[in-house]
Amino acid sequence: MLADKRILLVISGGIAAFRALELIRRLREQGATVTPVLTKAAEEFVTPLSVSALAASKVYRDLFDLTDEAEMGHIELSRSADLILVAPATANIMAKMAQGLCDDLATTLLLATDTPVMIAPAMNVRMWDHPATQANLVTLQDRGVQLVGPDAGAMACGEYGPGRLAEVPAIVDAVISHFAAGPLAGKRIIVTSGPTHEPIDPVRYIANRSSGAQGAAIAAALRDLGADVEFVTGPADVPPPAGVAVHSVQTAQQMLDAVQSLLPSDAAVCAAAVADWRVKGASDQKIKKDGSGTLPVLEFAENPDILATISQGKLRPGLVVGFAAETQDVMAHATAKRDRKGCDWIVANDVSPETGIMGGTQNTVTIIDDQGAESWPDLPKAEVARRLARRIADALA
Ligand code: CTP
Repeated sequence: MLADKRILLVISGGIAAFRALELIRRLREQGATVTPVLTKAAEEFVTPLSVSALAASKVYRDLFDLTDEAEMGHIELSRSADLILVAPATANIMAKMAQGLCDDLATTLLLATDTPVMIAPAMNVRMWDHPATQANLVTLQDRGVQLVGPDAGAMACGEYGPGRLAEVPAIVDAVISHFAAGPLAGKRIIVTSGPTHEPIDPVRYIANRSSGAQGAAIAAALRDLGADVEFVTGPADVPPPAGVAVHSVQTAQQMLDAVQSLLPSDAAVCAAAVADWRVKGASDQKIKKDGSGTLPVLEFAENPDILATISQGKLRPGLVVGFAAETQDVMAHATAKRDRKGCDWIVANDVSPETGIMGGTQNTVTIIDDQGAESWPDLPKAEVARRLARRIADALA
């Protein structure tokens, strides 16, 4: 099942590290090539020699091992794999990954890579439940890191609850399904995301508070189901997910041009918070105070509506999904928006400041289509994205 698959197995330190030995055997039985990387703490629990013997591979341990750098630099090592599996993943390595720390070989590889990453956490139940670990998990999942486990049960430390490393067969299954063709394999999907910046002059612009988190999560979820994702993004706070084609733009007009150049596609999800207006006759010189006390007056022109343009255009994607960010009468406005723009589905959400949705990690949405409205509970943005991706997969099946 895993023939020709190259797995870089990062073993971080914890009592569950000994189970990585069994994991190596089972992955190799499936035909995978396993290249192990041990953290210093992991070496307290398993010996490099036993890991190396079972993997039939050199064990990578030290960032400053010059022989390794000569043979294969850490960047190349991280990119030459099809999947990086961190098992067991301790609370510490998850925190470092979430923060982008890179103070040893394992964390440097994880920061330098654009290869898909899967983690199998193992830690004490309180460490798992701690808000810091849970926040790190949300950050990692938002970035497309896949999760397997942890299981609940009796722990080596004598406590009971979630935090046990997933069973080895479950980890192997997760790796196999990662490589299996997803339901969106062969489908090309355009996702717009983030805000747009509309220039006033070369140094000033008009923007909005969109972080791009929901759009990035949708792109990652579609990618996870096997889609070829064309990610057209304005200047967002959240980085684009790995494994998607990124098209960076600044303005609404540039976003429209990019989207149109990518048509036809099987579907389009317009999650961008596009500025409705641009400054008419934006100055190509910095506007200066002229000392007279006269204030500049900005005149606006309407921006093209990307969602409406592609919904009503000749090369209309098979399925067009729009968002409706509202602060009042959410359902009425969203339903009217769907009709006006001509898209198939509208994902409606209330972005009033008190909801904390804009810039936050949670989202509460209602999907409106020709059958009616379907409300989802308050969910992490990554989970909203996964549900939406599955719904899109069903619609395109
Ligand atoms: N949208 C777009 N191009 C625009 C404006 C909006 O593609 N110029 C898309 C958004 O990506 C979103 C949907 O249209 O999918 C609705 O965006 P929203 O900001 O809620 O609505 P507006 O069209 O801007 O309408 P209003 O500001 O009146 O609520």
